Amino acid sequence: MFTSSVITVLVCTVSSFALRNVEGTKPVLQRTVEALFMDRSHSTYPGTCKVFVASNKQAKLCRREPLLPKIIQTAKKQAISACNETFQYDRWNCSLVFNRKPRKSIFNKIYRETALVHALIAASITHAVARGCASGELTKCSCLGTFKNSSWQIKGCGDDFKYGKRVTKNFLDLKHAGNDQIGEILKQDVNIGMDSIGEQLKEVCKCHGFSGSCTTKTCWKKLSPFNSAMGLLKKHYHHAMKKKFVNYTTKRAITPKVKKKLEKGRNNLVYLQKTPNLCVSTKGRACKDRHNCATLCCGRGYVVEKKLVSSRCRCKMVNCCFVKCDTCVEEVEMFTCK
Ligand SMILES: *[C@@H]1O[C@H](CO)[C@@H](O)[C@H](O)[C@H]1NC(C)=O
Ligand SMILES: *[C@@H]1O[C@H](CO)[C@@H](O)[C@H](O)[C@H]1NC(C)=O
Ligand SMILES: *[C@@H]1O[C@H](CO)[C@@H](O)[C@H](O)[C@H]1NC(C)=O
Ligand SMILES: *[C@@H]1O[C@H](CO)[C@@H](O)[C@H](O)[C@H]1NC(C)=O
Repeated sequence: MFTSSVITVLVCTVSSFALRNVEGTKPVLQRTVEALFMDRSHSTYPGTCKVFVASNKQAKLCRREPLLPKIIQTAKKQAISACNETFQYDRWNCSLVFNRKPRKSIFNKIYRETALVHALIAASITHAVARGCASGELTKCSCLGTFKNSSWQIKGCGDDFKYGKRVTKNFLDLKHAGNDQIGEILKQDVNIGMDSIGEQLKEVCKCHGFSGSCTTKTCWKKLSPFNSAMGLLKKHYHHAMKKKFVNYTTKRAITPKVKKKLEKGRNNLVYLQKTPNLCVSTKGRACKDRHNCATLCCGRGYVVEKKLVSSRCRCKMVNCCFVKCDTCVEEVEMFTCK
């Protein structure tokens, strides 16, 4: 009885605490992640960053790299659409609020979902910046000088993960994410996000020389499509660790006990509050198959409808150059939660 009431008190203090850090304002990290994830339009905003209302430091970064706003826009879109797609058949489907209640924003507290979104936005910016290096859109990438000396002149550079990570840390102002537990947690989630991009780097090499002899070789790093990092992030989401709320600031001495608590689960996404039960909001949701319906519909059952879908099939090349196809009609089952 005693412990449960203590926990309630802690949860209450956290709910108002999560919105601010100890200095009383929301850090740039949180403001940016929320602005990018919440805005599902293509609006442009005044200021140099255009995609959202930027801080002074962000505005400076956007001025220095004129194509950065475009890259951030790409990052935003790719994050939201990968999230929509990956979580389409999950109880939480990347919605901004829980259970369709406008007041239950995923950003009110540090839920598992909040942790995922912070990692997701950081991963997406890292990816988009690294790609921007490869395409030559960004001019200050660090990889330009890293090519092996070859007799070949290679323009631009590979996907520059290091630079992507540096820009992301700068842009999200990780240094000022807060000296409290919330700051530490969100920083860790952002790091997990950025590293999920790094884990997908592959080295690709190209040989040069007479008739395929490999006298010189040029190698560069290549990223996987963002969707494969999204798959990794979803795994992190499922293995995320709940931390106990500890009121401390890193400005105060961290006791060994607190330190030990902080170090547990360094490689996991971390969060502070339990997600509300989402079963009330899955009514009417489409599910993928019977197995998925069992979970998504929370045991209420589901409706099966048969639908005819036509598609091109049995395609053949005719008269050398034309492709001729038949139309096949297939019956597919559609599932909807009761
Ligand atoms: C993601 O889903 C939301 C809600 O259905 C929708 O408004 C938004 O356009 C989708 N975004 C993308 C990029 O697919
Ligand atoms: C390779 O290095 C040599 C000596 O440093 C330099 O003269 C040459 O221009 C370099 N070649 C290329 C393709 O960078
Ligand atoms: C955390 O502790 C500080 C100092 O001990 C106190 O002023 C503050 O109100 C506490 N914050 C919460 C959310 O409990
Ligand atoms: C998520 O599900 C809600 C219903 O719970 C629905 O209104 C919303 O459009 C869905 N969003 C996405 C991104 O599919």
